[in-house]
Amino acid sequence: MSLPESEYMSPTWRDGLFNNRVVFVTGGAGTICSAQTRALVRLGADACIIGRNVEKTEKAAKDIATARAGARVIGIGGCDVRNFQSVADAVERCVKELGAIDFVIAGAAGNFVVPLSGMSPNAFKSVIDIDVLGTFNTVKATLPHLVTSAEKNPHAKAEGRTGGRILAVSATFHYTGMPLQAHVAAAKAGVDSLMTSVALEYGPRGVTSNVIAPGPIANTEGMARLSNAEAEIGSRVPGGRLGAVRDISDATVYLFSDAGSYVNGHVLVVDGASWRMGGANGPGVDSTMQYPNYLFTGEISKGLAGGKKSKSKL
Ligand code: HXC
Repeated sequence: MSLPESEYMSPTWRDGLFNNRVVFVTGGAGTICSAQTRALVRLGADACIIGRNVEKTEKAAKDIATARAGARVIGIGGCDVRNFQSVADAVERCVKELGAIDFVIAGAAGNFVVPLSGMSPNAFKSVIDIDVLGTFNTVKATLPHLVTSAEKNPHAKAEGRTGGRILAVSATFHYTGMPLQAHVAAAKAGVDSLMTSVALEYGPRGVTSNVIAPGPIANTEGMARLSNAEAEIGSRVPGGRLGAVRDISDATVYLFSDAGSYVNGHVLVVDGASWRMGGANGPGVDSTMQYPNYLFTGEISKGLAGGKKSKSKL
């Protein structure tokens, strides 16, 4: 679905900021990552988005391409970030068809609401594999291209365009701990840590590596998986509202722009100060549910996307 520009990007940015640059995005057909990609494309970049679902990924690529006349956006479906070769093949195709990789967004993630008591080892492993191993595979497959891009785009070139930047999309759950999200919190802690290692090992080669940690963002797949009480959650955010996808796109443009050149190894929380309110009434919890009672009854919000139909094998 095409989005009006005001929904995926603020009017802050200058046209052509990312001209002749290429962004590679995992999970790029998802609601948050497609908005990030759309903003970069609107500002001049070409893009390659990858995802597991072929139809969804190709459709999203076509749609994102409408953000700018002449934009080249490739959608590579059937690509699972848990499989290194799958990511490496997509990277190779991206470079062959678009000429380079200047920016990377590691956005592929897995989530569902479940207490530890109902979480099988394979359920835990699935999320760790998608988030942590998937981010590692993305880092590993793209870094050589990011180093090349950083060499071509040393800081403070006259026209102010950049290259050699990577960011991962994380979460804030591990700051406080979060019931029903043990797998995701552990995974996102791993993602944050990995991105710091990239900053330390590749900063000297001109690459920046950062994390964006979104809070609750309206009308996203993540929200549909975590809560059916959007309005209520929004009213509890110190910022007075739920986030919008453009809040995350704007943070992305900042980090990839010349304005973000000295920001490296950072976690940029974009959540209206939501995480500072604490974690026990977060994902999977309705207003009628009280901590810790729902842990004893096994109750979680009804009708969440990704909810398990059958009982755990445990
Ligand atoms: C308990 C569950 C479960 C559930 C799956 N499993 N859903 N366990 N409760 N609701 C278990 C399965 O039973 C299985 O374990 C194991 O997890 C793997 O499930 P599969 O379906 O075989 O795996 P797979 O097809 O690889 O799917 C991965 C997935 C799925 C993570 C389980 O939900 C998925 O594809 N998600 C991708 C999209 C996604 O989640 N996007 C959310 C992004 S939002 P057993 O033991 O039975 O074999 C996001 C927000 C972060 O990340 C926070 C932002 C603020």
